[in-house]
Amino acid sequence: EKDGHDWFMRKEIFEQPRAVADSLIGRRTAAGQLQLDEMRLADEELRDVDKIIIIACGTSFYAGMVAKYAIEHWTRTPVEVELASEFRYRDPIIDATTLIVAISQSGETADTLQAIRHARAQRAKVLAICNTNGSSIPRESDAVIYTHAGPEIGVASTKGFLTQLVACYLLALYIAQVKGTRFGDEIDEIMEHLEAMPGHIETVLERAEEVYALAADHAGTRSVLFLGRHAGYPVALEGALKLKELAYLHAEGFAAGELKHGPIALVEDNLPVLCVVPPQGRDHLHGKMLSGIQEVRARGARTICLAEDGDSSIEPYADVLIRLPKVPVLLQPLVAIVPLQLFACELATVLGHDVDQPRNLAKSVTVE
Ligand code: M6R
Repeated sequence: EKDGHDWFMRKEIFEQPRAVADSLIGRRTAAGQLQLDEMRLADEELRDVDKIIIIACGTSFYAGMVAKYAIEHWTRTPVEVELASEFRYRDPIIDATTLIVAISQSGETADTLQAIRHARAQRAKVLAICNTNGSSIPRESDAVIYTHAGPEIGVASTKGFLTQLVACYLLALYIAQVKGTRFGDEIDEIMEHLEAMPGHIETVLERAEEVYALAADHAGTRSVLFLGRHAGYPVALEGALKLKELAYLHAEGFAAGELKHGPIALVEDNLPVLCVVPPQGRDHLHGKMLSGIQEVRARGARTICLAEDGDSSIEPYADVLIRLPKVPVLLQPLVAIVPLQLFACELATVLGHDVDQPRNLAKSVTVE
């Protein structure tokens, strides 16, 4: 049942190319229009949406953070991302023109369920992104985009996360199509990039042995930092969460630009710092990330850099270099998280922990 793997988690990591491909099946008409089967929100309703609030917990929350970058960029609609457990208690400003997007792999997370009930009571429309057909959250939502990850058994979310990202990109592009924003014209091109992602994820998985060797080298580590910027920032947070929940290590993710506002004080000799390097591009993201990496390295950190193929500018500053396929910055989380999942899974294995059933955790958190 684990297809020859030692853990469900590892099996699920290796299923990700297929899960991403399945989540893309049937989303385009012959004429190239995007279609979302259970959208159930009329185009007029979507056009009226003037604010989107994404609510979720844990890994699903990090998918929501990536979604904010994509939705705002492609649709110019303001997006807030909020932890479901906080949302209800802050008197959020919502009305009939607010779209709530609830992201939940299980569809049963109590905080997320309570949050959508609260939003619906205030007439907001709720769209669920969910992996579990017929579960509570999609049942209580106005619309749903199902992810097609298949059952996720490991407590740590992996293919659930990647397929949530795909659903978020599809939602963003769909809203762009309906609203007719200037990015509407680029839908075809972005969809082609998305359709190439299963192959790119496969490439990352083919390099798993390098990551396993790296994990084995870190069996004595007590603390790991993760740095990212833009869409790489949630990847850093998710990479750190994976390490906490599986390897029981102190792991923290930061936006690289925040380093000098405090976290850099944590850096000491040989501290491993995992850096998600954005693709080289016309923006300043890549250069800014490079200077953050130089700063931590100058203070003794051991830099482990995830950078795209062909990026030679990173070489002088990376103690370890893990290569990623070249993809657009907004889609980079789909490939960048994979080595971090492999790293956490392997390190926990080396440390002798139960990867599928980490201590103190349940797959679905049905109490608030
Ligand atoms: O089923 P959900 O997506 O609503 O679950 C949310 C979190 O409980 C979940 O992502 C959790 O953080 C995972 N164990 C992370 O690997």
